Amino acid sequence: MKDKIQIFDTTLRDGEQCPGASLNTQEKLEIARYLEKMKVDVIEAGFPISSPGDFDSVETIANNIKGPIIAALCRAVEQDIKCAWDAIKFARKPRIHTFIATSPIHMELKLEKTPQEVLKQAVSAVRLAKSYCHDVEFSAEDASRSNPEFLYHIITETIRAGATVINIPDTVGYSQPEEFAGLIKGIKENVTNIDEVVMSVHCHNDLGLAVANSLESIKYGVNQIECTINGIGERAGNASLEEIVMAIYTRKDFYQKYTDIDTSYIYPTSKLVSRLTGFVVQPNKAIVGKNAFAHEAGIHQAGILKDASTYEIMKPQTIGLEGNQLVLGKHSGRNAFKNRLEQLGYDLDQDKLNKSFEQFKILADKKKEVFSEDLVALMSEVLVEDIADLYELKYFHVTTGNSILPTATVELVKENEVIVDAACGDGPVDAIFNAIDRITGARVKLSDYYIKALTRGKDAQGEAVVEIKDNGCSYIGKGISTDTLEASTKAYLKAINKMLLQNSYKDK
Ligand code: KIV
Ligand code: ZN
Repeated sequence: MKDKIQIFDTTLRDGEQCPGASLNTQEKLEIARYLEKMKVDVIEAGFPISSPGDFDSVETIANNIKGPIIAALCRAVEQDIKCAWDAIKFARKPRIHTFIATSPIHMELKLEKTPQEVLKQAVSAVRLAKSYCHDVEFSAEDASRSNPEFLYHIITETIRAGATVINIPDTVGYSQPEEFAGLIKGIKENVTNIDEVVMSVHCHNDLGLAVANSLESIKYGVNQIECTINGIGERAGNASLEEIVMAIYTRKDFYQKYTDIDTSYIYPTSKLVSRLTGFVVQPNKAIVGKNAFAHEAGIHQAGILKDASTYEIMKPQTIGLEGNQLVLGKHSGRNAFKNRLEQLGYDLDQDKLNKSFEQFKILADKKKEVFSEDLVALMSEVLVEDIADLYELKYFHVTTGNSILPTATVELVKENEVIVDAACGDGPVDAIFNAIDRITGARVKLSDYYIKALTRGKDAQGEAVVEIKDNGCSYIGKGISTDTLEASTKAYLKAINKMLLQNSYKDK
């Protein structure tokens, strides 16, 4: 246990806090199921007081996910703490995570409180949290810009008040690795009761150092690292889970530590998060980028063919990327399909397997070769299809050309009511979107729209991504089809449905 580094995943809280990442409850639950299979130690499911939708997601995850600890974030405020507890009280392993800023800049300018007031508030918050829940994490927000003596004091007192985990965030990603590790060393040397608790770090990536700062702190006894899938999060993001885990795994010789993570779920989970949040993973991203295991240079390829260890420090299979590139097609049977899904990390019950096999057959009819990327795309549609969308697409027709005004007719179904409308537009996509606006009454701003091919070949599936803005909030929808107009229609409708769902929460 002493050598274990606990992985605290905050994809669903800090990760989801970044602009445009809004996920609904079903999507969050799906991600949580993958995090559970991956065996993360803690899932921070959200910030319940922040919105009714967030409360609902945290509660749903707490009630359904049994393996990891389920943490709920709250400010060091009575109402927040009660709300966090309400959301997680039925979790098998609940944790209240309360925080308050400790840096002079935050205390003076944001909280307008003296250090004494902050200390008192932190201690009362931990005591209150402890009266509900045995497991209480205290975070000293902006710890890396705090006065170390004050930090030692507030940590000592919050441990006395009952904290079981102390988290040191580099909230604004300001620290340098040696400096951050120095802060941890100082805490270890000056806080007499620090060994009674789990010591955690939480680093942001504003200077690109979140992973380096987290790893560097291991040498001074940190035993929990907070991170997110694909490194998503506020501004430049958080420390990336896959980089932390694979560094500890690949360089056991150096760190002399381990995690409990089942690394074969890294790739499928990264894909799922990217697809559901709409955040594309940069091709050269360490571990999960499209090029992370691609060898282009001839000299490298020659080496790899002789022995993979010449240029590969990790095996692609370790992170769940299959080794061989066997392609499926319309003659592939259920077993081949199931095997390939298992290689990709999808372990489905019979019902989901049947549904996805039907979808696979439809796809294989349209497309000669079905690649892994197609399957991952198909799975993310099948896995989240239970989400109750307010509007469902029945059909669309478009008349277009370079000498006529593009016109679209769209038929949607809303709670058994069939609604048809038509509209013109600057192009076929615009016409479809206008027709959907007429039916749903949505008045949104289209802030981003693009289509990309998921795989190779003329018959490749297209993935359309649409971002809309409504009242300062953005919603991302994705749609996949071998027909780009259909992919665009699905994506736009998805974004509108997400917005309507969110607004229905606000109205409650
Ligand atoms: O970055 C930060 O300081 C946080 C805390 C709430 C842990 O996210
Ligand atoms: Zn953070």
